[in-house]
Amino acid sequence: MGDSPPKHSNSRAQYGEYHVTATTSGSTDTLDVLLIEDNADFAGNLQEILESEGASITRAGSVAEARDHLKRRQPDVAFVDLRLPDGSGEDLLVHLGEVYPDCLSIVLTGNATIQSAITAVEKGAFAFLLKDMPVEAVVAAFRKAKERHRLEKDRDRLERQLRHQEQLAMIGQMAATLAHEIRNPITGIRQALEVILEATGEPPGMEGIKKTMLDRLVRLHELVDDLLVFSRPIVVKRHPTSIRELVTMAWHEVRRDQPPQDVLFRIDIEEQVSTWPLDANSFRLVLRNLFENALLAVEGVPEPRIEVSARHAGSGKRFLLEIHDSGPGLAPDVATEIFKPFFTTRTRGTGLGLALTQRVIEEHNGTISAFNHPEGGAVFRIVLPES
Ligand SMILES: Nc1ncnc2c1ncn2[C@@H]1O[C@H](COP(=O)(O)OP(=O)(O)OP(=O)(O)O)[C@@H](O)[C@H]1O
Ligand SMILES: [Mg+2]
Repeated sequence: MGDSPPKHSNSRAQYGEYHVTATTSGSTDTLDVLLIEDNADFAGNLQEILESEGASITRAGSVAEARDHLKRRQPDVAFVDLRLPDGSGEDLLVHLGEVYPDCLSIVLTGNATIQSAITAVEKGAFAFLLKDMPVEAVVAAFRKAKERHRLEKDRDRLERQLRHQEQLAMIGQMAATLAHEIRNPITGIRQALEVILEATGEPPGMEGIKKTMLDRLVRLHELVDDLLVFSRPIVVKRHPTSIRELVTMAWHEVRRDQPPQDVLFRIDIEEQVSTWPLDANSFRLVLRNLFENALLAVEGVPEPRIEVSARHAGSGKRFLLEIHDSGPGLAPDVATEIFKPFFTTRTRGTGLGLALTQRVIEEHNGTISAFNHPEGGAVFRIVLPES
């Protein structure tokens, strides 16, 4: 059974008589709190106290219930009882650290040993409390967690602002390139219109002129679309994501938009990384860009092949994803150039695909690199930490 408050504990430990008069943490934010506790009375009392401290509580009475909730939602703070009817809170601590590294876990146990405290902290607990401690200790730990959460949010916001400013500065620098990119298709359209206007009656080659105009307009449209995506700040919210599902979805989307081509597509995902905390929306964009490029690279090569592999990297705390195609590989000396905005070797390319891809990966605190495989073809390698 779970650890209930010790018999000798006073009413404060049961928290039944606790009344909060003021919140001193200074933050008015509501925190999402997952209360993992199988003793319903104890959990009820604690819930009341935490709610008066500005928490929005969800309760879980077992490891299974907690895991089920965690599949759907990331808590800001989790109170974790160590002994639960169907398993140990220690395993939950590890699980929480894996799927939501930003969540602050507070262990609240009735049966503590020095060893259990050390283990809990090693497994990532933010605080370790005993159920017979005065209730003020629990409130103090929660307020500390709130403060930490607020500071981290502030830091993230400042970092985002800074990155957005850097992006804006970069967009400023890109203006000259852009002017050139826009000028070309506009000149094409203008010349075509001049021919039409100067001709008396239908000018010769009218079909071709119309096609040129449409082609240039499509080009302008694509450019503006890409720029819009590129100039927006990228907000990354990580959730445990099935890598296979995401890869498959991105692949189908790209295939749908591209001319049909017989390509062997293989996915190889190591069991331990089958789910990984990612921002599925922006990461899908990354995969789409890389698949689009890979499909273009294998166009016309014999036995075209694109292989995706995902595995652990280094100590196992990092996720490594590679996309290997059987195309001609990267042109010499462009491995770093290709991530720069507007770098393209394609006549119809904008050169924003990989720049955007790199930005999303960096927002995930990860890295992306590209190299040629010894057996041929280009490899794009993404390395992502857990948080
Ligand atoms: N799989 C690949 N094999 C060989 N070269 C590649 C591959 N992927 C990208 N490249 C090179 O990197 C360049 C930049 O790619 P990026 O995706 O940023 O732009 P793009 O594909 O040219 O245009 P778009 O903005 O439409 O994506 C490409 O023009 C190409 O030279
Ligand atoms: Mg591209």
